[in-house]
Amino acid sequence: MEDKNTSLLVDDVKEIDFESAETYQILFLEDSPDDVELMEHELKEAGMQFISRRVDNKNQFIKEVVDFQPDIVLADYSLTMFNGMQAFRMLKEENLIVPFILVTGVLSEKLALDCLKEGVDDFILKSSFKRLPAAIISAIRKKEMEEEKNRFAAELKKSHEELRLLVNRHQISIEEERMNIARDLHDELGQVLTALKIDIAMLRKRLTSGKRLSEQTINEEFGSISKTVDKIAMSAKEISSGLRPEALDDLGILEAIQWQTIEFEKRNKISCQLYLPNEHLELTKELSIALFRIVQETLTNVARHSLASLVQIYLDIRDGVLFLEILDNGKGIEDDKIRSSKSLGIIGLRERVQLLRGQFFIGKAKGGGTKVSIMIPTNK
Ligand SMILES: Nc1ncnc2c1ncn2[C@@H]1O[C@H](COP(=O)(O)OP(=O)(O)OP(=O)(O)O)[C@@H](O)[C@H]1O
Ligand SMILES: [Mg+2]
Repeated sequence: MEDKNTSLLVDDVKEIDFESAETYQILFLEDSPDDVELMEHELKEAGMQFISRRVDNKNQFIKEVVDFQPDIVLADYSLTMFNGMQAFRMLKEENLIVPFILVTGVLSEKLALDCLKEGVDDFILKSSFKRLPAAIISAIRKKEMEEEKNRFAAELKKSHEELRLLVNRHQISIEEERMNIARDLHDELGQVLTALKIDIAMLRKRLTSGKRLSEQTINEEFGSISKTVDKIAMSAKEISSGLRPEALDDLGILEAIQWQTIEFEKRNKISCQLYLPNEHLELTKELSIALFRIVQETLTNVARHSLASLVQIYLDIRDGVLFLEILDNGKGIEDDKIRSSKSLGIIGLRERVQLLRGQFFIGKAKGGGTKVSIMIPTNK
């Protein structure tokens, strides 16, 4: 007699379509070859493709779980030496996640529920083998979904961690940026403003000394002051363009990159070769800023880590796609640094590019050194 209560997970065998199904690996823990034959018969009837192995003791079971790597275990609940529940607990202790169905002649409802509570995926009464194919598929899918969920949770955890580190890095960069601004204001503007003040004080002294100054002297004094003011204007411009690439809007992105590489060469004694497109580039503000920052971050990495003597920058637009390649001739980035969750500069670069629906690559260049390649669609 068919027991309706045995149908815990999937009721209707007919719903399953094995047409395009894969071949399943089934491990039977069963001392009765006849029962295995009956079960296999049901599976074949349902059109399921499978290969199977049968074991009836603990040692064989352990060996086959490892060697055969079954997709599912069908275990007799009532073996004398090593029964189904013992087998299940053993897998659990070993952290081996295999879909698991108990097969039994008779089983009280309470015992069945206890087994399910412990984590067994399903149980099948020997009187209702018809349900076996559906139960197998259901148990396998359940495990797949669990694995998917765990993978997803792990990925989410990793990206939370990355985000936390990025925010942290962002805060540190703000502090560093402030220090740079303070230093630049002090060293660049501070010096020339002091010079200007001295020039003005001297001029006042001469003008109020009672002595008549020649026209030439007055011109020279004002010429000197005017030169100092030009220097101040130049310093202010340099400082602001370092701070805000937007300040270079009127110059355009190509000139901004040119300026950046000149500054880089001055500071680092690394030659920089630029290959830019001839015509003016019409990029969105968002893309221009990203490009500017990408070049900045990559050049900083070259200066800090590469030991290179030369860096080459290629920039081009073809068929609405922007290509950027930055190549140095240094020692080459180590493989583990490329994907490390500690490489926040690289993570930031990758995210910047992905936000613009582009592709990012960093790796060892063919002739040594490091290569950063970027492709970003330019359509707005
Ligand atoms: N051009 C390069 N040549 C050699 N190694 C590199 C190069 N660029 C990056 N690396 C390696 O990759 C690592 C990660 O770079 P990433 O920019 O993410 O971090 P960082 O520069 O160390 O620190 P920051 O967070 O300040 O950028 C570096 O520490 C360095 O070891
Ligand atoms: Mg860096």
